[in-house]
Amino acid sequence: MPRKKALRSHAWFGRSGKMGFYYRSWLKGMGLPDDQFDGRPVIGICNTWSELTPCNAHFRRIAEHVRYGVLEAGGLPLEFPVSSLGEVTIRPTAMLLRNLAAMDVEEALRAHPLDGVVLLMGCDKTTPALLMGAASTDLPTIGVSGGPQLSAHYRGALMGSGTHVIAMSEQVRAGELTQAQFREAEAAMNRSPGHCMTMGTASSMASLVEALGVGLPHNAAIPAVDARRDTLARMAGRRIVGMVHEDLVLSKLLTREAFENAIRTLAAIGGSTNAVIHLLAIAGRAGVPLSLTDFDSLSRGVHCVANLMPSGKFLMEDFYHAGGLPVVLRALGEHGLLHKDALTANGKTLWQNVQDAACWNDDVITPFDRPWKRDAGIAVLRGNLAPNGAVIKPSAASAELLTHTGRAVVFESPEEMLRGVEDEQLDIDASSIMVLKNCGPKGYPGMAEVGNLPLPRKLLRKGVRDMVRISDARMSGTAYGTVVLHVAPEAAVGGPLAAVRTGDRITLDVPARSLHLHVADAELAQRLAGWRPAVPHATRGYLKLYVDHVLQADRGADFDFLVGSSGAPIGRDNH
Ligand code: FES
Repeated sequence: MPRKKALRSHAWFGRSGKMGFYYRSWLKGMGLPDDQFDGRPVIGICNTWSELTPCNAHFRRIAEHVRYGVLEAGGLPLEFPVSSLGEVTIRPTAMLLRNLAAMDVEEALRAHPLDGVVLLMGCDKTTPALLMGAASTDLPTIGVSGGPQLSAHYRGALMGSGTHVIAMSEQVRAGELTQAQFREAEAAMNRSPGHCMTMGTASSMASLVEALGVGLPHNAAIPAVDARRDTLARMAGRRIVGMVHEDLVLSKLLTREAFENAIRTLAAIGGSTNAVIHLLAIAGRAGVPLSLTDFDSLSRGVHCVANLMPSGKFLMEDFYHAGGLPVVLRALGEHGLLHKDALTANGKTLWQNVQDAACWNDDVITPFDRPWKRDAGIAVLRGNLAPNGAVIKPSAASAELLTHTGRAVVFESPEEMLRGVEDEQLDIDASSIMVLKNCGPKGYPGMAEVGNLPLPRKLLRKGVRDMVRISDARMSGTAYGTVVLHVAPEAAVGGPLAAVRTGDRITLDVPARSLHLHVADAELAQRLAGWRPAVPHATRGYLKLYVDHVLQADRGADFDFLVGSSGAPIGRDNH
C-alpha cells in the first residue's frame, strides 16, 4: 500500500550534500549498497540480548529471523541494543531499572533514522520497559517475545520456574528435602533458552503483548527453541514493513479497548500481579486512562481457564500444545468479554485472529463454563490500611484464607523479616498475619519481589504451608500464597502501613475487597504524626532520580516526568 507521509528515515538518508554523506557513508561502511537508501522503510530491531539476561540469551537468533523477514518485505533492518534487565541477576531488583531501560528505548527510537521497530522482549522487565519506551515514541511497532523455556522435570514430576524454587526452599526449611537434592534441581529447572515457563511475569507479559494486539497470534506461548518461534519472528519482520507503509503506529493498537482486553486476559490466564503495575505504566505512556479500579471491575466474572503454575499444574509448553492464548481469547469473545474489533499488528481484528482457535487439551485450557477456578482475576483491596489500593491474586491463594482476621506480626525491613522467620522464639501462629514494611517503590527502593514472605520455620515444621501476608512490595509472578501486595501509599512515604504494630488486628476480606486495620482513626493519626520518612537517602545518580520521581504502585511506578508521549520528532542535524 503506498504511503502518503514521507518516511522519517528520509530526513537522514534522502539528503544531499554534506549531511547526506554523513548519514549514509558510515552505514555503507557496514557493507550496505547505495540502493538500500532508496527510500525503503528502515526498521529497527530493538534487542535486549545479554548474557546477563539469560532468558534473552537466544535473541541473536531471534533477531536474525526478524532480519530475514524485513529484507524479504523490502525494508532495511538495523539492529541495535538497549539496556537489558535480567530478573535473577540484577540486585537489588530489576524493577529499579525498568524506567531507566524505558528511557533508553524511547530516546534510541527518537534519535535514530527509524520508520518502524520490532521489539525483542523476554525476561520480566524487558517487556514493559520496551513497550513503555515505544509508546512514548509512537512509531509503527510490533512485539516479538522470546518464548518460554521447555518444561522442566525433576524426580518424575513437572517443575516450574520460580514456583518450585519457592516450594522446594520451604521443603528444605521444613526438613523434607536435602540441600543436595535442592542443588541437583538447579540444573533441571532451566534446561533450554527462554524465559520462565510458568505463567509468571514474563509469560503474563508475553500473553498481554498478544492480547493488546502488539504481537502476532501465538506470541505468548511458542517455546523459545521451537522452530515456529523463529517463523513468528520472521513474519513479524515482514509485517513491520507493511505497518510502516500503512502508518499503523502503536497508538492505533494501544487503545482503551485493547487494555480492557488485556486486563480480562490477565484474569483468564491467572497472570502475574506484576502485570498490573506494568499495564498501568504502559497505559500512562499511551495516554489511555486506566486505574486500579478497572482491574477489579473488568476482572469480575472472568474465570481462570489456563491451568498453569503457579496457580495451577501445567506449564507454558503444555499451554502452547493445547492451543495457546488464541483459545483463551476466543472463549472471552464468546462470553461477551472481549472487544472483538480491537485492531492488531497483523492488520486484522483480534476476533479475526482467534475466532477459529481450537483447544486440544481441556485439562490445560478448561472450558469457560467449567473453569478450573471461577472468578479468579486479580482483586483490588481498599480500606484504612490501603487507601489507594492493594492487590491480591485469589487464584494463587488459599480459599480458606480469603476472609481472615488475625493478629499482625510486623517486620520493618526484609532483613528483620528474614531473621524473624528463623527465630524459634517468634511470637506467631498460623492465624497471624505477617506484615512487611518499607519495600515499596521508594522504600526498597525499587519495589523488590519480597512480598511472598517465607513462612516461619517453626510453623513450616508443623505443616503450615500458607498464611496471610501483607506488604508494599511486589512478588514474583511465579510465586503463590495468600499474599496482599502493592499496598499504596507505601510505608516509606507515610502510608497507614507505616503505623501498623505487632499485636494489631487486621481483617482481609477479598469478597468484600477490603483490607482493614482495627485501629481507631484518632489512634492511627496519632501514630502517623510521630512517624519519620524511611526513604533511603540518595544524594546522586540514578538512585536519586528514582526516589525523587517514582510514582506509587497504583500509578504504575513510572517516573512522574515520563508519563505520556513526546512522539518521534526529528532532531536537528548533528554536524
Ligand atoms: Fe527471566 Fe523469569 S527470570 S523470565
